[in-house]
Amino acid sequence: MAVTFSFRAAVLHAAQTPLTVETVTAGPLKPGDVLVKMKAAGLCHTDLEVIEGGLRYPMPIVLGHEAAGIVEEVGPEVKGVAVGDHVVLSWNPHCGHCFYCDRDLPILCETYLGHGPQAVAFDGESRVQLREGGDLRQLMFLGAFAEYCTVPAQQAIVVPKELPFDCACLIGCGVMTGVGGALNIASIAHGDTAMVIGCGAVGLAAVQGARLAGAGEIIAVDLDDAKLTLAAKLGATGLVNARREDVAAVAKQKTGGRGVDVVLEAAGSPAGFALSVEAVRPGGEVLWLGKTDVTAEVAFRWGALMGEKRIRRSSYGGARPARDFPLLARLCLDGKLLLDELITRHIALDEINTGFAALKAGEAIRSVVMF
Ligand SMILES: NC(=O)c1ccc[n+]([C@@H]2O[C@H](COP(=O)([O-])OP(=O)(O)OC[C@H]3O[C@@H](n4cnc5c(N)ncnc54)[C@H](O)[C@@H]3O)[C@@H](O)[C@H]2O)c1
Ligand SMILES: [Zn+2]
Ligand SMILES: [Zn+2]
Repeated sequence: MAVTFSFRAAVLHAAQTPLTVETVTAGPLKPGDVLVKMKAAGLCHTDLEVIEGGLRYPMPIVLGHEAAGIVEEVGPEVKGVAVGDHVVLSWNPHCGHCFYCDRDLPILCETYLGHGPQAVAFDGESRVQLREGGDLRQLMFLGAFAEYCTVPAQQAIVVPKELPFDCACLIGCGVMTGVGGALNIASIAHGDTAMVIGCGAVGLAAVQGARLAGAGEIIAVDLDDAKLTLAAKLGATGLVNARREDVAAVAKQKTGGRGVDVVLEAAGSPAGFALSVEAVRPGGEVLWLGKTDVTAEVAFRWGALMGEKRIRRSSYGGARPARDFPLLARLCLDGKLLLDELITRHIALDEINTGFAALKAGEAIRSVVMF
């Protein structure tokens, strides 16, 4: 669009208040940007953390960082993305030449980490404004709970047109994080016993990642039997309800007293983090995908940290979106990665607060806003 145009977006004006769906505006595209007409956006736990105030961002802000759509327009100097392409949006733009980019860690890119907390683009500016004037921030360089989203071309990853948008959007965060955690970061060997703690979208994707990696046994842990039933459909071979059972004892009992080879934590709870190091065997690997309030203290039994255990926290499952999104799309189209099963309900943008209430209550794996 050559001129400023209007569209609807869900805006958060202050933590612990409902999102308001309102008309916002965006200006003409800058060099390198593309305009994406949104088709589907998933409600992720991270958005909920911003709403609740555990994850602090400047306001007002457009949330939403797990999304797919169609390229409506490309700005000057854009290469590799064309009008009409179906794209999944990445939330990890990176400069490509800083200390961390040079060390193959785009998730630690200095420009990304520098601008991320301000929720503005790499040039320090916002791409979306309130109708009455004033900048809106864009969560994780996106702000996808909106009918349109302006992003740098590097964040719009082309995927096959056969992939339905509701499944495609999940690749943008939860699925990339869980599957990538299992395939890119953890070193799950064929036949290993893996445990996944927390069976929301991230955990259920991790279960599938462990299956794709060839794990011999996959023990899913949650507090909710319905989530565990779903984990079994997606590849878990053992189910443990942490409300009723001693998870570490089950881990040992299934492994000749050792503990499991690899634990992926996707609950994002201090109890889950503590459990992860209790359940893993000496020399085993713990991967924390979940997160809790950054100011929270998390306690561990010191003895559980000993024994040559390798403990790592990872964001975004080691994503290289341009490489991984098409691969995940292919796995889905081939029936090897089940994404439909992660969608609890499709909602309209106007129902977004109800969607977050369901996520908070643990009633939904993913609610997906359809535009
Ligand atoms: N690393 C990343 O890049 C990244 C990306 C997305 C989300 N996350 C984080 O991953 C976590 C999961 O996200 P989600 O969207 O799947 O959330 P979710 O709320 O849908 O899922 C969390 C699951 O953990 C279960 N759970 C809670 N406490 C538990 C416990 N003590 N033991 C066992 N299970 C427990 C819940 O019942 C729920 O099923 C969150 O902390 C989120 O912030 C991280
Ligand atoms: Zn997310
Ligand atoms: Zn960089």
